[in-house]
Amino acid sequence: MKLTIFGTGYVGLVTGACLAEVGHTVVCIDIDQRKIDKLKAGVIPIWEPGLQPIVERNVAEGRLRFTTDVEDAVKHAEVQFIAVGTPPDEDGSADLQYVLAVAESIARHMPSYRVIVNKSTVPVGTADKVQAKVEQILAERGEQIAFDVVSNPEFLKEGAAVGDFLKPDRIIIGTRSAKAQERMRELYEPFNRNHERTMFMDVKSAELTKYAANAMLATKISFMNELANMAEIVGADIEEVRKGIGADPRIGYHFIYPGCGYGGSCFPKDVQALGRTADQIGYEAPLLKAVEAVNNRQKTTLFAKLARHFGGADKLAGKTIAVWGLAFKPNTDDMREAPSRVLIEALWGAGAKVQAFDPVAMDETRRIYGDRPDLALCGNKYSALEGADALAICTEWQQFRAPDFEEMANLLKGKVIVDGRNLYSPNRLEEDGWQYFSVGRPA
Ligand code: UGA
Repeated sequence: MKLTIFGTGYVGLVTGACLAEVGHTVVCIDIDQRKIDKLKAGVIPIWEPGLQPIVERNVAEGRLRFTTDVEDAVKHAEVQFIAVGTPPDEDGSADLQYVLAVAESIARHMPSYRVIVNKSTVPVGTADKVQAKVEQILAERGEQIAFDVVSNPEFLKEGAAVGDFLKPDRIIIGTRSAKAQERMRELYEPFNRNHERTMFMDVKSAELTKYAANAMLATKISFMNELANMAEIVGADIEEVRKGIGADPRIGYHFIYPGCGYGGSCFPKDVQALGRTADQIGYEAPLLKAVEAVNNRQKTTLFAKLARHFGGADKLAGKTIAVWGLAFKPNTDDMREAPSRVLIEALWGAGAKVQAFDPVAMDETRRIYGDRPDLALCGNKYSALEGADALAICTEWQQFRAPDFEEMANLLKGKVIVDGRNLYSPNRLEEDGWQYFSVGRPA
């Protein structure tokens, strides 16, 4: 099939590349000329394992191309995906201006029937707004052209996006018409080889499913973080508790790792947006508000632990803290809402210096913070430790899991580790004379 994807961010680019990979002919369009120029030159704007070869192969084999030409993109295909950003508005609700601008572009140029598929994360009722926008523009054009609006939310994880897309747990499709349903079934047929993964439902349920999934996962994390904080106070070990409850299949082992808070472009934004939806419909949703509040507090836990160790936040002035891991999670250079940022900014606020290392997010850190005297961006994990008073770990990159502790002790001024991801054995480190503070485990 021929397909068009509006937006070449995480979701759009991965969707376009993977749909080309299974045999469709895909045009990806973006308003950002520089991004499209780069993509045409083979430069992928995001750091995502496995994406580069798929893009290269499908471009070379003629199934994938990039453009900024709206007319060309809308004419190319009957099925048009909207995969542009929905950043939070001032009040935390999803800002739909980009989604509706794409709907308008499609409506201005569509020559015949189109299926308009919403892949962006959008609140319940957005399909109706897209529908109304397209109707309005068609009325302005004085044309009567049939179209359908479909909701097809994306569940891919950054860092595992290609695998998630090519082997999805489920494909959620909300439709109102049999014709659109048929097109969507055909489009996703390559993913149904071993067993049926497509789930058809009404549009509003599909829209709500996306928020429900992210809010549920965020709730699991905040719940565990709350328990971890309690475990610290009562002297229990949250890692034992985690295994103990995970064994119950009704709870499960996934997504119950305590830490220094969830980050990224999705959980914080989506939990907030769902909360705003609750406000707008006049429904009180205390659980959602608590999930967000617990997470905001959890992001301050590493700073609080450092301050406590050094005898108060004011004692951090003039200290140097090494930070391992800047990305919001491993296998990405994305630092949106990353716990590392909350820690680093609090350290600066207290007058401390930061020596930081991340395997891939160094350029992103430089882009965000620029050159400043209280930030040293180091070439590897060991050089970040040189002369530092303590190490703080924000991201569980594989290369941090089994470091050379002897080398670390030689480089650091103080044998102090504050670990936001529970990477090491407290007993082992204690035996070696470290002062080791992790999340939800006895210090
Ligand atoms: C998340 C969802 O997992 C995807 O299914 C969804 O498609 C995506 O949002 C989206 O809406 O686009 P992502 O933001 O890439 O994906 O990251 P996750 O792997 O879910 O991690 C989110 C955060 O939770 C990270 O900061 C991670 O460190 C934290 N986390 C995760 C924990 O603190 N504990 C856990 O047990 C799991």
